[in-house]
Amino acid sequence: MAACSVKEDPPSGRDGWLKGTPHEKLDVVAKQLRGFDMTMVETGYRYQELYWAGTDGNWEYAEYQVEKIKQAIEYGLERRPKRAASAEPFLRETLPQLENLVKSKDSVGFLSGYEMLTKQCNACHKEEEVPFFTVKPPLHRQSPIRGR
Ligand code: HEC
Repeated sequence: MAACSVKEDPPSGRDGWLKGTPHEKLDVVAKQLRGFDMTMVETGYRYQELYWAGTDGNWEYAEYQVEKIKQAIEYGLERRPKRAASAEPFLRETLPQLENLVKSKDSVGFLSGYEMLTKQCNACHKEEEVPFFTVKPPLHRQSPIRGR
C-alpha cells in the first residue's frame, strides 16, 4: 500500500532523537551535517596547520594537510554544489601545485606556495561574495603537533 511508505518509523538515534519518516530523518541528518561553513572551519584549521608543518619541515604532516583540505572541500561541494564553479581552479591548480612543493621538501618554495594558496583562498571568498573572510598566515599555533 502506498500509504505505508510514508508511515512513521520508530525513532532512531540515542534516546530516539531522530523522528518521523525515513525521509524526514535523513533531512534532519543532512541539516546536522551542515553546509559550506563547517567545510571552511575545517579548511581554516588545516590551512594553519599546513603553515606550521611547512615551517617545521614536517613534510609528511604538510602533505596530509593538503590532502585533507582537498577532501574537505570536495565533500563540502557534494553538499553545496553551487560553490563548485568558484572552487574548480582551486582544486585543479592551487592544491596540486602546493602538493608538488610539499613533496619537493623545499622550504623557500613552500613559503611562496603558501602565499599563492592564501591569495587563492581570498580570491574564492571574493568570488563567492564573502570578501570579509580575509585569511592571512597564522601568528600562533593551535595544535600540539610539532615537527620532531
Ligand atoms: C569555493 C570557494 C572557496 C575556497 C576555495 C575557499 N573558501 Fe573559505 N569560504 C568560502 C565561503 C563561501 C565561505 C562562507 C561560508 C558560508 O557562508 O557558508 C567561506 C568561509 C571561510 C571561513 C569562515 C568560516 C566560519 O564560518 O567561521 C574561513 C576561516 C575560511 N573560509 C577559510 C578558507 C581558507 C583558509 C581557504 C584556503 C585554504 C578557503 N577558505 C578557501 C568559500 C571558499
